[in-house]
Order: sequence, then C-alpha cells, then structure tokens
Amino acid sequence: MKLGVLTAGGDCPGLNAVIWAVTRSALDADDEVIGIQHGYAGLADRDYLALDQASIKGLLGSGGTILGTSSFEPHREGAIERIKESMEADGIDALISIGGEHTMEIGRRIFTDDGVPVIGVPKTIDNDVSGTDYTFGFDTAVQTATDAIDRLQSTAQSHDRVMVVEVMGRNAGWIAVHSAVAGGADAVVIPELATTVEELAEGIESRHRRGKSFSIIVVAEGAKLVFGDGVERLVQPVETVDDYGYPRLGGIGAVLARELELRTGFEARVAVLGHIQRGGTPTATDRLLATRFGIKAYDMAKAGEFGRMVAWQGNVISSIPLEEAAKVKPVDQATLDMARKLFSYC
Ligand code: F6P
Repeated sequence: MKLGVLTAGGDCPGLNAVIWAVTRSALDADDEVIGIQHGYAGLADRDYLALDQASIKGLLGSGGTILGTSSFEPHREGAIERIKESMEADGIDALISIGGEHTMEIGRRIFTDDGVPVIGVPKTIDNDVSGTDYTFGFDTAVQTATDAIDRLQSTAQSHDRVMVVEVMGRNAGWIAVHSAVAGGADAVVIPELATTVEELAEGIESRHRRGKSFSIIVVAEGAKLVFGDGVERLVQPVETVDDYGYPRLGGIGAVLARELELRTGFEARVAVLGHIQRGGTPTATDRLLATRFGIKAYDMAKAGEFGRMVAWQGNVISSIPLEEAAKVKPVDQATLDMARKLFSYC
C-alpha cells in the first residue's frame, strides 16, 4: 500500500508526531508513505517529500510541520480533478489528511462527492473539533498560556495592576478556561458565556475591597465585548476574513483593559499571547495523542475505513464519520460549570 500524508490549515505542536507515527507504522509493515507538501496544494501540484527512516529521525518531539501547510481548498481552487489525477498517477491508495474542523469538511466533500479515499486526523490548539474529546496541540497551548499567566501574576502583584491576558481559540473558549483555571486567574471571558464589562469591573472592585490589590483576567480572542445595556461587539484587528472565510480575530484584550481601567480606576495592561501558543515543541501529552492518532490512521487506511476521522472519546481511540467532525465544538457544560464556580462573576 502507498499512503499520502498532508497537513492543512494552521500549524500546531504535534503535527510532526503524527507524520512520524504514520511513517513508522507503514515502514514496519513494508508499506510506502509520501509526504505531500503545503496541504492540498502539494497534491494538486505533485509536490512531494519522500518519507523514510532517515527523514523522520527526531521528528516526534519537534514543533510545526516538516511538510508545510496551506489553506488550499480543492473545490474552491477548481483543483479536484488534478488531485484525483495525482493520486492515480502516483499510485496513492489512501490519503491521511491532518487538519482542523474545516479540513475535516474538505475531507468529507472529496470523499462523498469525488470518491477520494481519505482519513482525517484532528489537530488544533483550539480543541474545537466535534466528535473528539481532545485534539493534539491543545495541551501544549494551554501549558504555554499557563506559564505566561504564572509570570504575569508576579508583575501584576508588584504594580497593583489589572492584567488582561488574551489567548487564542477562535470561536471557542477552551484554551481560555483551561489556562485560567490552571494559572489561578481571577476571571475568564469566553464566547460561550456572556460576561459583561460591568460585571468584570465590579468583580475587580470587590477583590480590592477584600484586600486584593491585583487581578488577572483571561480573555479568549473570539469572545464578544458585552456591555450591561445589551450592546455586544466582536473585536477584530482589521475587518477581514481568513482564507477559509472566518473573521480574523484578536484585539479584544486591549479594548477590555481600557474599559476596565476607565471603570475601576485601576491601572490595566494587556498581554497578547498570539502565535507563541502555536509554536515550540509539543508536550508529552500531545506527543502521545498525536502518536496514537497516527497509528490509528494507518490502521484505518489498511482496513479501508475511509471517510472517517480518528477520534479520542472517553480515553479510547476510535473513529467517527467525517460529517460528524466538520462542525465547531464549543466548551462543554461541565467545563462551563467549573468556570462559573471558580470565577464568580462569569
Ligand atoms: O485555529 C488556530 C488559530 O491559531 C486560532 O486560534 C487563531 O484565531 C487562528 O488560528 C490564527 O490564524 P492565523 O495563523 O492565520 O493568523
């Protein structure tokens, strides 16, 4: 069997571990693997990287993706026929497509409409792919954000400041809630909960009345700025969308810090963690999850289980149809309940 493996959408820690695990599994069984460069663009252009023992050496723990990635969409670019021709010409029997929720939708379409034998592997720091409890990349991002919050605690305390920490996560608050809890923050603002600016200001003032001189507020980039009079505002750095058509997010931290400073009179600062959360080496947890996903994807290719995504459900590696994966997974009820309990003004 000859497998093609590609990475699509944004990068995240653990992509290389999946490539490593797929290749190891295939080579151990005398199967062949080719790496497809820059996502689906590389399949349309037949832009490949041979994957063998030498090329995967040391890959397990490295960040990013050795294959490169892109937001190239086969149908949008009118490239589906070229993709099918490449697979035919190069004898690719199965395609392992590692990506986020949008990449799973691409996989669903090319499998259902065009008969491409594809298996999805869910990645993203956002942890927002439906049908899997966790995606790899998330644990590393949460660890990075938690480390940042730990550092911000001491400087906030020294200066009696309100420190607003803006984290990524697109339209889901997973990174925000997990890092806020792990870092011992005082409040969290996420898309799933409509916390008002006034409630946050009152929470900060109440902390001060109780003798606390500083506060840490974690805000998810996709949260809306909600005011007591019902006004809601999605903050975007520029009014643009990305290659997949989603709004580019970022900037709510600075606006929120200013609003809180105006309302409370306490000095406020913002720290935007941005792509630092996506970079660097994956945690051990992410390496393990990515490795398990890679082995499972190879096994599914061998068994001809196409049109499905590898998933982590209740501590078991399983798989689900791609159509069940291709939608955003918001923060679940149990996690929201924890946030409400710990952060009284959520
Ligand atoms: O989906 C991962 C993510 O890092 C989001 O959290 C963020 O909104 C987005 O990608 C940033 O995308 P880009 O790398 O295109 O700026």
